[in-house]
Amino acid sequence: MTNKTANDTTDDATNRTTGGTATRATGGTAARTTDGTASRATGGTADDAAIRTTGGTADGTASRTTDGTTTRTTGGTTTRTTDGTADGTTSRATGGTAGGAAIRTTDGTAGDAAIRTTGDARGYATSDAVSGTTSGTVTVLVTGATGRVGSRVAEAARVAGHEVRAAARSGPVLFDWNDPATWADALRGADAAFLAHQPDVGAPGAAEAVGAFARRAGELGVRHLVLLSARGEHQALATEDALAGAGVRWTVVRAAWFAQNFSEGPMADGMRERGGLVFPSGEVLEPFIDVRDIADVVLAVLGAGERYAGRVLEVSGGRLLSFRDAVAEISGAGGREFTYAPVSAVEYGAVLREIGTPEGEVEFLIDLFETNLDGRNAYVSDGVREVLGRGPREFVDFVHEAVAAGTWKQ
Ligand SMILES: NC(=O)c1ccc[n+]([C@@H]2O[C@H](COP(=O)([O-])OP(=O)(O)OC[C@H]3O[C@@H](n4cnc5c(N)ncnc54)[C@H](OP(=O)(O)O)[C@@H]3O)[C@@H](O)[C@H]2O)c1
Repeated sequence: MTNKTANDTTDDATNRTTGGTATRATGGTAARTTDGTASRATGGTADDAAIRTTGGTADGTASRTTDGTTTRTTGGTTTRTTDGTADGTTSRATGGTAGGAAIRTTDGTAGDAAIRTTGDARGYATSDAVSGTTSGTVTVLVTGATGRVGSRVAEAARVAGHEVRAAARSGPVLFDWNDPATWADALRGADAAFLAHQPDVGAPGAAEAVGAFARRAGELGVRHLVLLSARGEHQALATEDALAGAGVRWTVVRAAWFAQNFSEGPMADGMRERGGLVFPSGEVLEPFIDVRDIADVVLAVLGAGERYAGRVLEVSGGRLLSFRDAVAEISGAGGREFTYAPVSAVEYGAVLREIGTPEGEVEFLIDLFETNLDGRNAYVSDGVREVLGRGPREFVDFVHEAVAAGTWKQ
């Protein structure tokens, strides 16, 4: 993949997206100007020439006046107006060319501010950032909204005050990855969208569907797309690339295995039915992530405008556990005694067929488990801390909460 960085650890990193590709500038070292606080203007010309001003002077292509509350920069094809509110975190942009104009302001203290990117050929003029922190309500389309992650993203977005379009194959917002005729109605009016492809981010056809969906989203004025992907899943890279090539601001959140696989969905159902986990996971170590952390990261990304644009964020829990350890923790927490029986991926395929999984999906999953559970993911990622400024939720807390909720009762 190109133009994706997973390990940017700066506390003030910004991302600039131009015409569907992404470049990265790091605050403090690149394209940053200071006029008492901090601001940066990037001209949206076709060749992506940056317009920089410092302290109200001009560098030949830009001019700026600062009156304490209002800053205006005019240069090339981009006009920028920044309305300084009390905390200096609100900005507005208009104009720009097809390459897209990116503008960022900060109040010089928080290291994070409203970012509003507008003025490209898709007609976002005067629109605002998809920002939960300073610019009020936005409309977020959440796909997979009845699923493990989507339901939490929808909930977190509601709590943040956003308008949520909770999409699934039934319910108020109809959406089916396999039926492009459902896409436009789901997307229309949305400012941002969370994409959880089914049955998997790396499944056959996922790249084509996500690419086409993302392009449609851009045509309909959606400004930020966040894709749920999976760590160490080489089958998902084409899907991530398809998103990145669609010409819309994008962020990939690459997650570890979910803690909630043990409490919701087919793996949990199997545990309840058999009294144990039968899974092709050997003794491999995995830093299970609580899906609520994924939802928090998704919301923070949507609230940070350009900050995570063009980024792949790898997120995991903070502790490596084997699947055997995880089952033992669940058993030890007093919910129910479960066994663990590691099987080969091919043997697990037979289990999947038994529960009615379509043959194409079975073949894909065998390949996925043979690769994804071979130890390549036995490391912890720091995306939760990078984005949220706190560590991930503990697996043990997930277990205790689920036991208290009666999750594994017979
Ligand atoms: N499980 C993991 O550990 C893990 C780790 C990393 C990444 N991922 C990725 O996470 C995604 C799955 O998310 P999840 O676990 O939250 O999902 P989930 O719990 O399996 O729920 C699936 C959701 O998608 C909807 N859905 C099913 N088929 C659909 C279709 N054809 N078109 C549109 N919506 C459909 C379902 O609602 P309806 O059935 O009502 O339509 C439901 O809301 C996959 O892309 C997977 O690759 C999973």
